[in-house]
Amino acid sequence: MPDWDDIFAEKGKYFLKPHPDIERLTNLFKEKGVQRILDLGCGTGRHLIFLLKKGFEVYGLDGSPNGLEITINWLKEENLSSELTCQKIEQEFPYKDGFFDAVISIQVMHHNVMKDILFSVNEIKRILKPEGVIFLTFPLLQGFYVSKENMKKIEARTYIPLTGQEKGLPHHFFTVAEIKRVFGAFSLSEIYIDKTNHRAILGQKIEM
Ligand SMILES: C[S@@+](CC[C@H](N)C(=O)[O-])C[C@H]1O[C@@H](n2cnc3c(N)ncnc32)[C@H](O)[C@@H]1O
Repeated sequence: MPDWDDIFAEKGKYFLKPHPDIERLTNLFKEKGVQRILDLGCGTGRHLIFLLKKGFEVYGLDGSPNGLEITINWLKEENLSSELTCQKIEQEFPYKDGFFDAVISIQVMHHNVMKDILFSVNEIKRILKPEGVIFLTFPLLQGFYVSKENMKKIEARTYIPLTGQEKGLPHHFFTVAEIKRVFGAFSLSEIYIDKTNHRAILGQKIEM
């Protein structure tokens, strides 16, 4: 079964330009006093490098050894450093409670079944400080490059493409109501469709 590790092995630095809203996010992070950020599912490092250059302390976690190797080489080229972890997001994150001021995760969290997504969301909540910021994006079913007929449904709104480069990889397609429920521990200030035609959410951990 192919996965992102194979895609990175074949294509190398696959994504280059960071998310179109990253500049706006950088300003918001600065306003909120954010210093330490986790790029969850950092891939080949486009956001990690961008945010390091902006002066943040950025950690990266991803399940793809090839993606992380590309990130390490990119960091060397830029003379930057970061603590990177290779592991699945459905396993306990290797950080202490309240360690991060912000977590970003661009097109990652949907690659799981709901049970595992709920686990990862809980881990994000655990490792964030009170009022810690989240910025996450997910694909839209209607905008996805594989049609519904070419995907196998494995649970409510979770499909496995039977064709295309992400063949075999689970994709969960969130509804807005579901996002509000799954991210109930966060106050969501923005839920919108971004310029890459993905659903983006911006929010803060509710202090409890
Ligand atoms: C679409 S790529 C996005 C990469 C990066 N966030 C970016 O925007 O450039 C999806 C990333 O999620 C990672 N990923 C997918 N499922 C994962 C899982 N269950 N555990 C850890 N990483 C995962 C892949 O290895 C890949 O790097």
